[in-house]
Amino acid sequence: KERGWGAAPYFYLFQDFWCPSNYIQGVFNFQKFFQTKEDDVFVASFPKSGTTWLKALTFAIVKRQHFASVENHPLLTSIPHALVPSPELTMDADIYDQIGHLSQMTEPRVVATHIPYPSLPKSIMESSSRIIYICRNPFDTFVSAWTFSSKANSASSASLTLEEAFEMFCKGIVYFGPWWSHMLSYWQESKTNPNKVLFLKYEDLKEDINFQVKRIAEFLGCPFSEEEESNGVMESIIKLCSFEKMKDLDVNKFGSHFKIIDNKHFFRKAEIGDWINYFSPSMVEKLSKVIEQKLSGSGLSFKIQY
Ligand code: A3P
Repeated sequence: KERGWGAAPYFYLFQDFWCPSNYIQGVFNFQKFFQTKEDDVFVASFPKSGTTWLKALTFAIVKRQHFASVENHPLLTSIPHALVPSPELTMDADIYDQIGHLSQMTEPRVVATHIPYPSLPKSIMESSSRIIYICRNPFDTFVSAWTFSSKANSASSASLTLEEAFEMFCKGIVYFGPWWSHMLSYWQESKTNPNKVLFLKYEDLKEDINFQVKRIAEFLGCPFSEEEESNGVMESIIKLCSFEKMKDLDVNKFGSHFKIIDNKHFFRKAEIGDWINYFSPSMVEKLSKVIEQKLSGSGLSFKIQY
């Protein structure tokens, strides 16, 4: 058991990952009660790596036949977290509501999780469902996590200084951490089972969103047709899910989907390299060493601009 950050008073080492105390019951219930359907699509991520963006993109890609017109698209009036539920974050007190809600979602369902690969509900692994995973360079992930956790609304919120949080992050003690084992669990699965797991990096989406959106659609077995490309269907999805568009929607500016945090905090800067405004030279040195040590030999790496 360790001191927590943000809305989690503690982190517990649970099945080899650091589970926030406020989500332990939710993780347990998800593992125990969730029933995977064969055509389910999972958006898996390390927290603060672009989950909200990937939820929006995946939902819009998978459901594009249902919402021909962008003018009345549900992403204009609902935060992506409301359309793509994260069962372990909500299957706590309202577990029966959640089971009902999940079983009534229109298929194919898009469902999200922050649980590391080895701890996913067994039925996900045993089904033909697919997983799209996103992670982000640890420098920006840390800054995004720390700024986000300092915004928690909860009365029990644990506020840590940047330095305290950084020490914990380097030890892997962070929501669903260690981050290196989280990333490596999906990385390795994507190598051995490429039809099951598509591994993405936030930076790659920022660099070439057209290419990555095509990749996602192909992976999910619903590639964009030539007609869709020439009619601008893909472009309109990319625009709808863009940071500039989403940040400006009333639902994302004023709502509070997860009661412990306002929606607006999911849309901060969305930049690569903002860490430079927070890191001292010794922090840079320390995190660079941890990255090198933990990821070496795995083939997984991040381009970091010093
Ligand atoms: P910053 O804190 O660096 O701004 P998550 O969705 O996993 O919680 O990740 C949040 C990060 O993704 C935040 O990064 C946020 O600004 C960024 N983000 C949210 N929506 C986005 C979008 N539509 N496009 C790109 N980045 C987005």
